[in-house]
Amino acid sequence: MKTRKRIAILTGGGDCPGINAVIRAVAKKAILEHGMEVFGIEDGYHGMVNNRYKRLAYDDVSGILTLGGTILGTSKIANPYRYPIGKDKSLEFRDLSKTAIENIKKLGVVCLVCIGGDGSLGIAHRLHRDGLNVIGVPKTIDNDIRGTDVTFGFDSAVAVATEGIDRIHTTAQSHHRIMVIEVMGHHSGWLALYSGIAGGGDIILIPEIPYDVKVVAKTVKQRAKKGKRFSIVVVAEGAKPKGGEVVIKRIVKESADPVRLGGIGFVLAKQIEDETSLEARTVVMGHLQRGGSPTPFDRVLATSLGTKAVELMENGEFGYMSAVKGNKLIKFPLDKAAAGPKTVPPAYPLIQSARSVGTCFGD
Ligand code: F6P
Repeated sequence: MKTRKRIAILTGGGDCPGINAVIRAVAKKAILEHGMEVFGIEDGYHGMVNNRYKRLAYDDVSGILTLGGTILGTSKIANPYRYPIGKDKSLEFRDLSKTAIENIKKLGVVCLVCIGGDGSLGIAHRLHRDGLNVIGVPKTIDNDIRGTDVTFGFDSAVAVATEGIDRIHTTAQSHHRIMVIEVMGHHSGWLALYSGIAGGGDIILIPEIPYDVKVVAKTVKQRAKKGKRFSIVVVAEGAKPKGGEVVIKRIVKESADPVRLGGIGFVLAKQIEDETSLEARTVVMGHLQRGGSPTPFDRVLATSLGTKAVELMENGEFGYMSAVKGNKLIKFPLDKAAAGPKTVPPAYPLIQSARSVGTCFGD
């Protein structure tokens, strides 16, 4: 009996809306057009190290287009090259990449599709360099991956954050308060910029433009003088004051990228109160932005990127990820994609548009 060719899919890093839509796209194309057998590696690189996987039949990936999260599970700490063992004082890291690669080779797959952010794609690159046929698909709400104009998950997170800002607007207006809304985004300001503009934020603070709290306070006071007794401040979790540092929420020692940002919203609200004597409150959008169903845009993007990944497999173009450039789907080398975050360029046209409608960036 002729054995069917096999493909495996893994999802790594923080989840986001649209991952299941990619899993569906990859699996359906592989099954329908190539008659392949599909396997899902469980819990990101944990599953690869510990040889945990499941077979994905057509019916397993049918009906998941609109489902948030990932049916395979994910991990932000599992890295085969620096795999955490033990906890606290007994925590140590081991290079288990050989075991992980052996596990995939034993499964006999022609290609491993890694759906991940820059950290997971960096690992995918190393696995490819060490002998595996790997193709990446860029995923994150942060939109901070180099080589692609946009990542799936971003549009959905912008929609959630914008709805949050809209709802906060009405209570800010009613109570004549300053409302500070902290959004995610890691070290880049895409999410704060887009949701801030979509939600009509009066002040938008992003990591790429360090802010001066006196400028923020002046803007708030000027608005009050003009009769606008409330202000909406949208702050990226990675924003920092001029000459200052980011606010860190926690350190996850097991993680390859151990710093978790968060808390700037509270620091800023206190500073604004001190400077203006106006009442301020903080809302942290947090993981709400990663949950739930993908927007139509993200469903379409996820389907395009997933099917493009299988096309790369067909052409034997391993070591690349599927990506978007203008209105085209392209391939982009994994090592370059993982070479640090894609931040908002200072001359990004949207920043100028926002300034033109009176938005303050705190500079
Ligand atoms: O990369 C996605 C992201 O949600 C970032 O925006 C945020 O900084 C981080 O992950 C939060 O990580 P965790 O889920 O570990 O709290």
